[in-house]
Amino acid sequence: MGRGSGFGKVILFNEHFVVHGVPGIVSAMDSTADAEVKKIDKGGVIIRDERKGAKSYAEKKKIQQKESIDRMFKIMGIDSKKNSLDIWLGGNLPGFSGIGASAASSVAIARAIAEEFEMNFSDERINEISYEAEKAYAGTPSGIDNTAATFGGLIWFKKNLEDGPNTIERLNINKSVEILLANTGVVADTKEMVLGVAERKKKYPEKYDPLFKQSEKLVFKARKALERFDLKRVGELMNESHSLLQGIEVSCKELDYLVKLARDHGAFGAKMTGGGGGGCIVAMTPGKELQETVASAIEKEGFKILRTKIGVKLKGR
Ligand code: MEV
Repeated sequence: MGRGSGFGKVILFNEHFVVHGVPGIVSAMDSTADAEVKKIDKGGVIIRDERKGAKSYAEKKKIQQKESIDRMFKIMGIDSKKNSLDIWLGGNLPGFSGIGASAASSVAIARAIAEEFEMNFSDERINEISYEAEKAYAGTPSGIDNTAATFGGLIWFKKNLEDGPNTIERLNINKSVEILLANTGVVADTKEMVLGVAERKKKYPEKYDPLFKQSEKLVFKARKALERFDLKRVGELMNESHSLLQGIEVSCKELDYLVKLARDHGAFGAKMTGGGGGGCIVAMTPGKELQETVASAIEKEGFKILRTKIGVKLKGR
């Protein structure tokens, strides 16, 4: 049997903009998707998705999941007609939309398949394979999700719009910081969201081009603030980032509501995270006490919360 894991992620700055070559900042979370893969005699590819709370999420993404595995097989040189596999998916990463559950599961499955077929792949190769799988979920992904899912940590990412390699730099901060994610409960289609931005950007350059320029300036300021460990400033910049995301029309009323709720209860800043149109917000809530205050206020309104941290040191990395 082959086993593998992939990290969940939270995009702190520039989802969507990153698809068009603007840098973004992403942090892996300490939760993972885990996979086990076993060769079986017949029956094709059987997927047993037992991820926490994944039921409606998994159902909506089933067709894309099947396509992502076909894409993985192809790039790994495995003939899907000749090989039957039993794939189990689990782990402690909830099936929320916006936290990189698809990329985390692709990385986990790629690692598990590689182990079962005794293919000795580097992290770089696993990252390439899961990027190919991500296309099934995001259409033209930037690669930021699979990069975080593969390597973990806090990462500065810039997609290379030509053929060359993407820029992937590890960022180091003083110590780990509490953040929280709150889930709208709305499952959105990342592919549609990404396509929508590309179409509107082309159609309304007078509106979109200045927003893209601002997103580029903002992410450099955010990097500096993170490296100075100026969390108040990081929070303010997260608020600005949310406004830009509203500008490119990827937020929604549920996300705006949660962002306001987090800010009203003392978060240093809050924004939507991931593809938008539903999914999650991320709030900067340094210290266990503030994290708990904001988390319980949002929970009282009936929303699900994930309490996590950014800047956690990874063993051996
Ligand atoms: C999705 O988590 C992030 C997007 O920017 C898409 C991508 O970068 O591939 C919306």
